[in-house]
Amino acid sequence: MKENIFSGVQPSGIPTIANYIGAMKAFVDLQDQYNATYCIVNQHAITVPQDPDTLRLRTKQLAALYIAIGLDPKKSTIFVQSDVPAHAQAGWLITCLMGLGELERMTQFKDKSAKKQAVNAGLLCYPALMTGDIILHRAKYVPVGDDQKQHLELARNFVDKFNSRFGDGLLIKPEGIFPTSGKRVMSLQNPSQKMSKSDSNHKAFVSMLDEPKVIIKKVKSAMTDSIGQVHYDKENQPAIANLLEIYASLSGKAIDRIVEDYHDTGYGAFKTDLADLIVSIIEPIQTRYNQLMESDDLYDILQDGAVKANQVANQTLASMEKSLGIAYH
Ligand code: AMP
Ligand code: TRP
Repeated sequence: MKENIFSGVQPSGIPTIANYIGAMKAFVDLQDQYNATYCIVNQHAITVPQDPDTLRLRTKQLAALYIAIGLDPKKSTIFVQSDVPAHAQAGWLITCLMGLGELERMTQFKDKSAKKQAVNAGLLCYPALMTGDIILHRAKYVPVGDDQKQHLELARNFVDKFNSRFGDGLLIKPEGIFPTSGKRVMSLQNPSQKMSKSDSNHKAFVSMLDEPKVIIKKVKSAMTDSIGQVHYDKENQPAIANLLEIYASLSGKAIDRIVEDYHDTGYGAFKTDLADLIVSIIEPIQTRYNQLMESDDLYDILQDGAVKANQVANQTLASMEKSLGIAYH
């Protein structure tokens, strides 16, 4: 029997090429080999303030993008987190079993809470909800970018603790799947910051829905350095190293080969070809996306996905509740 994989993306903005390279591209590659479930994690998104109408729209857009990049609803279960109440229910159980200190140590919590004046309790408890997402669907593998490594480690420790207390093999211990190139795509304007869909500087990222001419402009104005030669040197040429990783991931070419090709051309030709490469991948995705956004198919797909996801998630939740004594009859 095929093993399960699970992953999720927050509808907190339009996904960027970093989301695509770091995680979503792998979703497509893995759906044949595994029993795949992909979630639109809208309950995670509200750990930071969201405008309700925008959140609704982003949820639909992300569903359309999932399918536009090549996820096939016949192979993969695609659903919205809030359509499966077991996620919030399991999240609470896990919140009560996780240490406050463990959650406070999470780098993402520390970073995000340092930037905000008002921090809600959900931002702290978010890794418990994420642990629930993964274990409810009995996932053996979780394709994610590097920034989720720490949260995944927390989920793995949780499974060990739960199983040793309540019974071996009750929950499946997940493992991360990280891309070889682009597990941490950096901002186009600051190579020491990760590319983020919520960056206030729109030049820092390429969104999956940016028009081709905008993509070309953003890539051409990406930060470089004064060295002027294409090398893969993360320490001394971090901006170029980042562009090389993006190129390698999207073209499937080895970084050494790309460096050879552009070693004597300077940054201009390299950037022009990189922009064309990004456009050649994103344009057909956008065509499919536009068709999906205009049809009603999307809601049917999400409804079917929710039915399947509810079945699996409810079974795991029931066994967790039984272990904990919550199911009392
Ligand atoms: P999020 O947008 O936070 O929901 O992230 C969705 C997926 O994209 C997760 O698997 C992240 O690890 C991945 N991801 C987000 N930002 C980056 C980045 N800058 N580089 C690589 N992967 C990323
Ligand atoms: N926390 C992830 C992120 O911000 C999204 C996410 C939520 C997720 N639940 C998950 C990823 C379960 C993998 C598995 O990117």
